[in-house]
Amino acid sequence: MIRRAKAEWTGAVLVCGKCSKKVGGGFGPKGKTSLTKALRKLIGGKGRKAPLGVIETRCLKLCPKSAVTLVDTARPGEWLVVSPGDPVEEIAARLGRAAPQA
Ligand code: FES
Repeated sequence: MIRRAKAEWTGAVLVCGKCSKKVGGGFGPKGKTSLTKALRKLIGGKGRKAPLGVIETRCLKLCPKSAVTLVDTARPGEWLVVSPGDPVEEIAARLGRAAPQA
């Protein structure tokens, strides 16, 4: 029997962990935060309670130079290649997640 667990996720994003390592994090105010961490912080929530799952993966075999590969599972046919320093808010908006209003 397959058991089930409820989650708040409305989608999931895959972020290449190897790309993130290669660019030395690349995001956040100091440019040292990984895209996974920066996105999770912006989107809020933890684990199953987050509105969007942000999953760090192994190499996705695209391996862009000085950039991070990202797959929005809602649009698996179009991968995103994000450069370090690109505003995380803009990336979240592209994923259909507006930054929470302050
Ligand atoms: S290192 Fe990220 S896709 Fe290969």
